[in-house]
Amino acid sequence: PLVSMTEMLKKAKAEGYAVGQFNTNNLEFTQAILQAAEETKSPVIIGVSSGAGKYMGGFKTVVAIVKALMEEYKTTVPVAIHLDHGSSFEMCAQAIQAGFTSVMIDASHHPFEENVAITSKVVELAHIHGVSVEAELGTVGGQEDDVSGSIIYADAQECLELVKRTGIDALAPALGSVHGPYKGEPNLGFKEMEEIGNLTGMPLVLHGGTGIPTKDIQKSISLGTAKINVNTENQISSAKVVREVLAAKPNEYDPRKYLGPAREAIKETVIGKMKEFGSVGKA
Ligand code: G3H
Ligand code: ZN
Repeated sequence: PLVSMTEMLKKAKAEGYAVGQFNTNNLEFTQAILQAAEETKSPVIIGVSSGAGKYMGGFKTVVAIVKALMEEYKTTVPVAIHLDHGSSFEMCAQAIQAGFTSVMIDASHHPFEENVAITSKVVELAHIHGVSVEAELGTVGGQEDDVSGSIIYADAQECLELVKRTGIDALAPALGSVHGPYKGEPNLGFKEMEEIGNLTGMPLVLHGGTGIPTKDIQKSISLGTAKINVNTENQISSAKVVREVLAAKPNEYDPRKYLGPAREAIKETVIGKMKEFGSVGKA
């Protein structure tokens, strides 16, 4: 069923695993993510950035595709459609209106008071519709669509205040993670993660899931991380297969012959992450 993230993440935090957010970019990504979830009996969050939403024909199109595929696949696992890095109240409102079951309001680049004000407004609207809300503090490194920046750690007291004053359902404190591949080993702020997890009691979200070693994934989960976002890794694994197929068969032009294998690669990558995150069999 199509659900918000709220119950999914509460359960994950209580039972010590993380639900994966896998970003979609097109039909094949959406198919692969839903197939991987059903096959492994994992709850799953389909991440949709504003850019990906636009590319796919708008938020309503994304919702229609997800719903139709879930019907076709007879999906039994919990699925959330989540706006990734929503940059404004208006963007979140658009997603909610289109039928998203979850939104992230990323007002972390605004001064703290403004972040609180924008996030509160989003929560107020979202909760009327049974939609869950994730908010961010600090800055994730690297680039993602229109969001870019250098790493700034979230402040623990600000995290507590944001949670108390807004009523969000999940918190993404930036603690050294990066969008896109890491240059060298990631250096995550586990001490801060523990402090923020204990202080707020919130399910924490780890952005920049691509390239984080298993030991760091496990440590993050043990410190209260209940959601891990992955995008780039699926893009890399699918692009690799497309290159291989077209290189091996330079005369191939049927999209099914290269996008089909790309879909399989995404599915395998997602299943690997679900195993790592411990969400297999938890649906
Ligand atoms: O919001 C999406 C994620 O943070 C994706 O990060 O592309 O490094 O896996 P990634
Ligand atoms: Zn992110």
